[in-house]
Amino acid sequence: MNNREKLLKMRDQSLLGGGIERIETQHKKGKLTARERIHFLLDEGSFEEIGAFVLHRSNDFGMEKQKYLGDGVVTGYGTINGRLVYVFSQDFTVFGGSLSETFAEKICKIMDLAMKNGAPLIGLNDSGGARIQEGVVSLGGYADIFYRNTLASGVVPQISAILGPCAGGAVYSPAITDFILMVENTSYMFVTGPNVVKTVTHEDVTSEDLGGASVHSTKSGVAHFTAENEIECINQIKKLLSYIPENCEETTPLFSYKSRDELRPKLADIIPENANQPYDIREVIQELIDENSFYEVHKNFAENIVVGFARLAGRSIGIVANQPSNLAGCLDIHSSQKGARFVRFCDSFNIPLLVLEDVPGFLPGTDQEWNAIITNGAKLLYAFCEATVPRITVITRKAYGGAYDVMNSKHIGADMNYAWPTAEIAVMGAKGAAEIIFKKEIDKASDHSAELAKKEKEYAEIFANPYRAAERGFIDEVILPEETRKKLINAFKMLENKVVSLPRKKHGNIPL
Ligand code: HXC
Repeated sequence: MNNREKLLKMRDQSLLGGGIERIETQHKKGKLTARERIHFLLDEGSFEEIGAFVLHRSNDFGMEKQKYLGDGVVTGYGTINGRLVYVFSQDFTVFGGSLSETFAEKICKIMDLAMKNGAPLIGLNDSGGARIQEGVVSLGGYADIFYRNTLASGVVPQISAILGPCAGGAVYSPAITDFILMVENTSYMFVTGPNVVKTVTHEDVTSEDLGGASVHSTKSGVAHFTAENEIECINQIKKLLSYIPENCEETTPLFSYKSRDELRPKLADIIPENANQPYDIREVIQELIDENSFYEVHKNFAENIVVGFARLAGRSIGIVANQPSNLAGCLDIHSSQKGARFVRFCDSFNIPLLVLEDVPGFLPGTDQEWNAIITNGAKLLYAFCEATVPRITVITRKAYGGAYDVMNSKHIGADMNYAWPTAEIAVMGAKGAAEIIFKKEIDKASDHSAELAKKEKEYAEIFANPYRAAERGFIDEVILPEETRKKLINAFKMLENKVVSLPRKKHGNIPL
């Protein structure tokens, strides 16, 4: 065999990972191989592989006799819709995609390149965790990756797709990244699997119930997106990237947009007559944004707040909106965490923020207090306070109590604050307020409930409107709902070159 033939043979061999049989097993499980995933993810022909001939260095347990070119992870770079990305794709057909020393080195190499060159890093995870035969060397490899994930955080977007098992330390790299996508029924994430759980807590639980896509997208909030199958998952990665810039120095891609009549009359009919009636804030979002541009994040987790990306006149924005149709839109621990994480992502990557506010306050109760709603609510507050991107708030209805301050109020740095005529901006609802401040009069009255109703009305007339706040300049303008889209387009354009610098510091201490 001459030199040329040798190289071509090695190339062919490296494409086979752990061999045809294991590839077939992978397919039988409804899963694609590491290379097939890259093929569907990147623009055709754009993939350039790095490290295809890397081998592991282990000589224990007969490992010296089992070597596969590439050693269980395919790494390199390519483009998605013409934009550069770095990618690693774990190959389950080689030692179950488990992480060896050299496997980790390959991932670290492309992470370093991604950071130096300012392009997103996409991890396609399908791994049995640390390579058991390598012991502590493998643990060291994981730590090298975690360290780089942390350094890269806020520098380049990092996206993790979970496309198979993800056990032990394998979950912590995705957890540090910006977004996690999972595939229903074929992907799992847990720190300890069902067998360990059984031994320690005597709970009988399946992998799916312990750490499947459904659990992590509804109960724990670990996963931001789920997909029915791998192709859909890969398409979601592409969609997600379309809203975000290549790195923290750049702006988001601009989509072509033809200006039309920007009035949206439907918006005038969404808020119910009765202030206690729910409505779906997504209806408001759909009317405000460019057609079909909403991409919701954490859709099934903490549904009392809605967050996601959208486009307004062709530009990406991040939306944070209270959801009156779930828990009346109040803020609780999970919704605060969800909102805070999203706000920080948008701020890291220059994505302007739009807040739609209809919030009766924080959720009361021992469950919330004992589980630290104080610390968790403060996360959302802190995230808004430190955000320097253009920030606009529209109060559609309720803005009560501390939640008024937290939800991107003027006082904490919002640039433009609008309110609809239906807005109620006060310390609390009229009934609760009347019961406290007019307690003596109500107690003395012969008809308590009539007196309460009278006082409630009195309080509502004074405070359950946007005009007191507008008088002070806390609201920049009271606007008709149908005008909102036009106002937002103009205001975001006006804020396009916003520059704010925070006080010099090493880093802040967000209440984690
Ligand atoms: C080496 C491994 C491996 C591992 C799987 N394999 N996991 N090899 N190290 N961690 C190998 C198997 O021996 C097998 O090899 C092949 O991969 C496929 O595995 P199967 O068990 O046949 O597949 P499946 O039934 O689909 O089960 C997949 C699995 C299971 C759920 C991932 O293999 C499993 O539980 N693995 C161990 C998971 C684990 O405990 N990892 C360590 C976590 S601790 P052959 O040759 O037969 O194809 C950890 C610490 C890091 O990660 C901490 C950092 C902070």
